[in-house]
Parts: sequence; structure tokens; C-alpha cells
Amino acid sequence: MDKKVSIIGAGMTGSTTAHWLAEREIADLVLVDVVEGMPQGKSLDLSQALPVIGKDVIITGSNDYEATAGSDIVVITAGLPRKPGMSRDDLLTANAEIVRKAVMETITRSPEAVYVILTNPLDTMAYLAMKLGKLPRERIVGQAGVLDSARMRAFVAMELKVSVENINCYVLGGHGDEMVPLTRHSNVAGIPLCEILPPDRLEAIVNRTRKGGGEIISLLKTGSAYYAPAVAVAQMVEAILKDKHLIIPASAYMQGEYGLKDIFFGAPVQLGRKGVEKIFEYQLDETERAALDKSADAVRQTTEAMLNLVKF
Ligand code: APR
Repeated sequence: MDKKVSIIGAGMTGSTTAHWLAEREIADLVLVDVVEGMPQGKSLDLSQALPVIGKDVIITGSNDYEATAGSDIVVITAGLPRKPGMSRDDLLTANAEIVRKAVMETITRSPEAVYVILTNPLDTMAYLAMKLGKLPRERIVGQAGVLDSARMRAFVAMELKVSVENINCYVLGGHGDEMVPLTRHSNVAGIPLCEILPPDRLEAIVNRTRKGGGEIISLLKTGSAYYAPAVAVAQMVEAILKDKHLIIPASAYMQGEYGLKDIFFGAPVQLGRKGVEKIFEYQLDETERAALDKSADAVRQTTEAMLNLVKF
């Protein structure tokens, strides 16, 4: 492969991202983790799965960041996951230190890489990584919107018993309980959700989407979701490596879009080889606008709390 993707954090989301990416056979992969032997063991295990599915990918596991040198993309999933009852913001202090280390160790070795951030609290960790790495906004994007929208799509599919392929959902805003599922723009084969679902069912789906991560945490008890977050990262990585100009919801640095500045926020983002190529803006009605502002306030508060903790 002439492309290289390094995944920092070989835990549940990191190793599952490697799994989804290996199946796509689009880049050689490096898994880095602080736990000795773990990334090496998982890489070996994944490598031994590849003959069965007929994919040629070199997968390396390491505790040494040197293995990441020359990466096209660096994915950061290192950090603590939520436990039952914890909000994403509760992870702030611990994960800020972990993300700092991951950025500082990788940026010198892959100065041209595009960064995809998954560590929570997502929008704030993406902001931190951008500032620490002195990255232009094109080269850093956070995974949240693909996951949140996929959750909503899955719930609509379950409700209506139609193919997930017919369902388009768009969830904007911060990756927290204040996220904004856009029901007017979401549709089933082009028919707006509000025309196809009774209001109470639609509201139930919106609420379940907002709490989608928490629902899984309460069921798992010892960790948070990883299949769906990981495949969402894989889709973003593929869009970048293949220069697809794919428009997906993702967290990007706002420079006036939606009237917002200096925060990472979920919006429709066009991804290609250079990373974030463009941010699209929906026409919002008053209710949507108010919900987006509320979500932006929540992200701003967490980002400010982080700025009080971390010295640049
Ligand atoms: N460098 C590399 N890896 C690290 C570091 C570090 N400095 N610190 C911790 N890690 C590793 C841990 O050893 C662990 O293997 O990060 C991994 C995290 O994996 P899990 O505990 O399985 O957590 P996961 O479910 O993958 O979630 C990771 O992504 O979705 C978010 O909220 C989630 O912030 C969390 C992150």
C-alpha cells in the first residue's frame, strides 16, 4: 500500500477502526497504545484474519510513536471511555493529557497528516489537537455526525421497517446531549420524516438518538460503543484517502459558518484528500437555530473549561 494510517489508542474503538479499514484494503495500518504487547497482539490477530478475507494490508502494532512516521492520516482514539452515569465532559482532564501526548508525538513524525479525532469530549478534543498541532483547519476533523446520524437512521429503519439505505438523517451540533437532529431535512426516500412519522414517534426517535451513546453504556456497563463509532471513522478515512469529496456530518472548526467562530461543531463537511474542503450551511428555521445555539453554548463551555486546564 502507498498509504499509511496510524491509529492512536488500540482499545475498542481503535482496534475496531483497524478492523473496518483492513476490510476496505485502502492503507497500511499502525496501531499505537501505551499498554505493552496489546497493539502488537491485536495487529497480529488482525493480520491473521486477512488471508481468510483475501486482503493485503500490513498492520503493525507498537508502543513507540516512531512506527507512525510518514502517516497520511492520524486517527486519535486514545483516552478513557465513559462509564455509566458519566457525561462526555467528565472525561475532560484525563483525555486532554492523552490527546496532548498523541498530537505532540505524531505531528513531528507526520507533519503533513490529516487528523481524525474520536476521543471525547469530541469537539473540545479536536479543538485542543488543532491548537497543539498548529494545524490549518483543513487538516483536522472530528468524528461525531456520521455516528449520530447513523444512530438516527437505524432507529427510523427499525420503526418503519424499511431499508437503512432509504433513510437519510442529518444530525448537527456538538457531540453531546444537545446535538440537533434535523427532522425537516431528514427523509425516507425523499419524504421528510415529519410527513412519514407521527409527531410522538419522531420525538421519541430524536430523544433516543441524543442519548444513543448513553443507552449503550448502560447496557455494556464496562465501556462505550465501538462498532458504529469505528465504522464512522473508517468512512471518513476512506473519503480522505480516495479524495471522494464526500459530504458527511462531522465536527469542523467554525470560522463564521452558522454564525459560529472558534469552536469545533458538527456540520455537513466535504472531505477529500486535503481533509476538510468545504462546510455547507443549511437554511434553519427559528426552532432549529435556537437548538443549534444551545448546542454551541454547551461546546463553548467545555472548550473554555479545557482552556483553563491546558497550557499551550
Ligand atoms: N497513548 C496511546 N494510547 C493510550 C494513551 C496514550 N497516551 N492513553 C490511553 N491509551 C489507550 C488505552 O490504553 C486504551 O487501550 O487508549 C485506549 C482506549 O481504549 P478503550 O479504553 O477501549 O476506549 P474506547 O472505547 O476505544 O474509547 C476511546 O474514544 O469514543 C471515544 O469516548 C471514547 O474517549 C473515548 C475514546
